[in-house]
Amino acid sequence: LKHEALEQLQGVNDPQTLNDLRVKYLGKKGALTEILRGMGALSAEERPVIGQVANDVRGAIEEVIESKQQAFQRAETQQRLQAEKVDVTLPGRKLEQGGIHPLNKVIQEIEDIFVGMGYRVAEGPEVETDYFNFEALNLPKNHPARDMQDSFYITEDILMRTHTSPVQVRTMQSMEGEVPVKVICPGKVYRRDDDDATHSFQFNQIEGIVIGKDIRMSDLKGTLLQFMRELFGPQTQIRMRPSFFPFTEPSAEVDISYVQAGKGEEPKWLEILGCGMVHPKVLEMGGYDPEVYSGFAFGIGVERVAILKYGIDDIRHFYNSDMAFLKQFAQI
Ligand code: PHE
Repeated sequence: LKHEALEQLQGVNDPQTLNDLRVKYLGKKGALTEILRGMGALSAEERPVIGQVANDVRGAIEEVIESKQQAFQRAETQQRLQAEKVDVTLPGRKLEQGGIHPLNKVIQEIEDIFVGMGYRVAEGPEVETDYFNFEALNLPKNHPARDMQDSFYITEDILMRTHTSPVQVRTMQSMEGEVPVKVICPGKVYRRDDDDATHSFQFNQIEGIVIGKDIRMSDLKGTLLQFMRELFGPQTQIRMRPSFFPFTEPSAEVDISYVQAGKGEEPKWLEILGCGMVHPKVLEMGGYDPEVYSGFAFGIGVERVAILKYGIDDIRHFYNSDMAFLKQFAQI
C-alpha cells in the first residue's frame, strides 16, 4: 500500500489530483483508514505491530502530500509574480495636457488690452428681459430694427439676449450716475440663424461702454485704433463706415486692414465691429443726463477676431470639439 501510494503521489503535478489521492488513502473511507478500522479483529500481539506500521505509512504519505502542496504553492506564487512584473525601465506614458479654447484665448487677450486701458470687466445675464435687450436700447416693440436680431423667446418678455448691449444699460444703472463709466462685457449671445460657415445661433461678443464728460467720436476712434493695433499688430489701419444702430447716434461699422498671408501686400478691409455714440435716449434710460454726459459704445464679434487672427475658414470649427482642430491652439 505504501509503495503504491508513494508512487502515485510522485507522479502528481496538479493540486486537484493530489487532493483526490489524499482522500483515497487518508480520507474517511480511505484505504489506510480501512486498515486501522479492522484492527479490532487482530490479536493483542499483532495490534501494536500493525498499528506501528500503519502509522508509519500514514506519516510517509502525509509527508509527501505536504511537500507536494508546498511545491504547488511556490509555483503559483512564482507564476503570479511573473504575471504582475512591472518593467520600471519602460518610458512613461505622456499625459495629455489641455489647452485654452481659441475663443477664450481671444477673449482673454481683448480683456487684457482693455484692462490695460483702465476698463473694468463686467458680466450680464444671457437670459434677458425684453426691456434690457431692446426697450432700454431705444428699440421699442414693433421697431423694424428688431428684425435684424431675430431671437429665441422664453416667454413674451424674456429671451436669450441677442447682443451684449443690454449690459450697457445694466452698467449705467448700477453706476447710479457716477462717471467715468469704463466697462467691457464679454459674453454669449443668441440669434435665430441657421448655422453655416459664417453664422451660428450662438456666438460671442464683447461690449464696451465709456461715459463721461466731453467724450467724443474721436475718443472712440482713437480707442479702437489703439486696440486693433495691439491685437493685430502696429501696422493695422481702421476704417469707419456710417451705419445704423438704434442705441447709438451716430453709428459706424469698423473695418480693419488685413493682409492675408501669401496674398501679396494689398490689404483687404474686413468688418470687425459695430459702434457709435450712445444715443441720448439710452443715456437717459441709464440715468445719465444727455445734456451733461456723453459716451461711446462698441460691440466686437469674438469669432470674427479669432477667424482673422488664426486664419480659420469655418466658424463651426469653434463649436464642435474636434480635438485635431483644438490641439493646434494648445501651445499658442
Ligand atoms: N449690439 C450691436 C450688434 O450686436 C453692436 C453694437 C454695440 C453697435 C455697441 C453699437 C454699439 O450688432
